[in-house]
Amino acid sequence: MAVSTKTPEEIEKMRLAGRLTAEVLDYITPHVVPGVTTADLDRLCHDYIVNEQGCIPAPLNYAPPGYKPYPKAICTSVNHQVCHGVPGERQLKNGDIVNLDVTVISDGYHGDSSRMFHVGETSVQARRLCEITFECLWLGIAQVKAGAHLGDIGHAIQRHAEKAGYSVVREFCGHGIGARFHEEPQVLHYGRPHTGLRLEPGMVFTIEPMINAGRAAVRSLADGWTIVTKDHSLSAQWEHTVLVTPTGYEVLTLSAGTRAKPEWVEAPR
Ligand code: MF3
Ligand code: CO
Ligand code: CO
Repeated sequence: MAVSTKTPEEIEKMRLAGRLTAEVLDYITPHVVPGVTTADLDRLCHDYIVNEQGCIPAPLNYAPPGYKPYPKAICTSVNHQVCHGVPGERQLKNGDIVNLDVTVISDGYHGDSSRMFHVGETSVQARRLCEITFECLWLGIAQVKAGAHLGDIGHAIQRHAEKAGYSVVREFCGHGIGARFHEEPQVLHYGRPHTGLRLEPGMVFTIEPMINAGRAAVRSLADGWTIVTKDHSLSAQWEHTVLVTPTGYEVLTLSAGTRAKPEWVEAPR
């Protein structure tokens, strides 16, 4: 099946959806402190999206084939949880790392972004993993331009992660996004240069590498959603929604509080 390119009108709606998504992450940032529960963070984000933004949290009741409906508004993945962590009564404690993954539907279009947060003082190892994963995201983004290939993105991410002694999760990937949450293409976070789909202006997809400090293998918990590392090693993830432009990329999930790209990563052309 073909990968869609978005019209200028759709792109304008996705810029708004992306900014609103990033603003939810800005909003929740001061609340990520020791003692807060992941359900507290979920409720705060839910209420902000619905009542302040007038938008819809896409995860709530999301039910892809083979899954039961997702019960919460955001994903909260703590420490060795890789992705899709379901918020609950767990209290965050000093030293935890947590990924908050937010997807907002605004005027029928999706924005999807996630960031890592440090709860109190975290270990040197945890900080290094989160930094390298952030660099992986941006090295992937920097590959994006019309005429490049999806494999260029995956290769840049895999190379940086493995050079650091880490491993790339294979079971989950980035995805096309638009009027639907998950569209074609699949954006793998590993691969070989000059392979895979050729990028065209107007394509929109996420890049969201999940990087493990230990081995790549993952398993899912009995809740049917939460993914954890098999070896219980720490895992980190960052995500942006990205538009392909004729000369490079435009990151759509930007807000006042969005962390800047590493200065040594090439700017969009
Ligand atoms: N936001 C996740 C992604 O980046 C998907 C979460 S699906 C959910 O693709 F149902 F768990 F929310
Ligand atoms: Co995504
Ligand atoms: Co996401």
